Amino acid sequence: MSLKHKPSEEDFNWWKLLQRDKQNFTVYNKTLESVFQTITPIADVEEPRPDRCRSCAVVGNSGNLRGSHYGPMIDAHDIVIRINRGRTKGYETDVGSKTTYHVMYPESAARLENTTSLLFFPFKTSDFLWLLKASNPRQNGTRNSKMIANKDLMMILHPAFMKYVHEVWLRRKGAYPSTGFLTVVLSLLMCDEVSVFGFGADSDGNWSHYFEILRNKKIKTGGHPGQEEYKMIDKLHKRKKIYFFKGW
Ligand code: C5P
Repeated sequence: MSLKHKPSEEDFNWWKLLQRDKQNFTVYNKTLESVFQTITPIADVEEPRPDRCRSCAVVGNSGNLRGSHYGPMIDAHDIVIRINRGRTKGYETDVGSKTTYHVMYPESAARLENTTSLLFFPFKTSDFLWLLKASNPRQNGTRNSKMIANKDLMMILHPAFMKYVHEVWLRRKGAYPSTGFLTVVLSLLMCDEVSVFGFGADSDGNWSHYFEILRNKKIKTGGHPGQEEYKMIDKLHKRKKIYFFKGW
């Protein structure tokens, strides 16, 4: 999303139902104005070039990464995209240590290194206000304690992209796509070669994480169409569009 590519009212009306956002289009646009006055999100991904092959690793948070020893393979990619609370410290052997982009929304936020780009996925109007606070510029040469990302390294996902993935890729199954699946589809646009790691539920059908013990055994795949998403990723692999490194 950028100043030039702002959502239409139709995009907004679909998006606001995802989290029962009570704000109207006017408030939403005002909020966006202040966002674009403060930060300049990187608007466009680079066009493909025949002389360059940008390889990307998309790293989901599945427990199937535990014991996988995928770390060095993940780090060998030009770009490594991590998601939500996905972390590396203490898990380097299995998940690697490099992070080029980190996908987040306020509830899943983690503090980022100054060199990591934020891929911000907004789900409600107030998420933009959070982004403004979280991107506070350096104060007195030190990082503000509330600052979680470098304001010069940010991209904001366009609501129309979420709608497109929901309608076209998942044929309207589930409430809306997971952050992980949105990231996989986005990576097909950003990268020349995509490898996917850390996707897949455990044997009980739950989306457990490699970095924690699962407490809620009824979580399943949240409101997301987990099985559809997994099948689509597997299909892309079988059709040689991506490499899918499965676990378990
Ligand atoms: O759970 P969380 O949303 O933080 O995980 C990031 C993404 O990784 C999810 O949105 C989902 O697409 C994927 N995931 C998965 N299998 C799991 C855990 C997460 O496919 N067991």
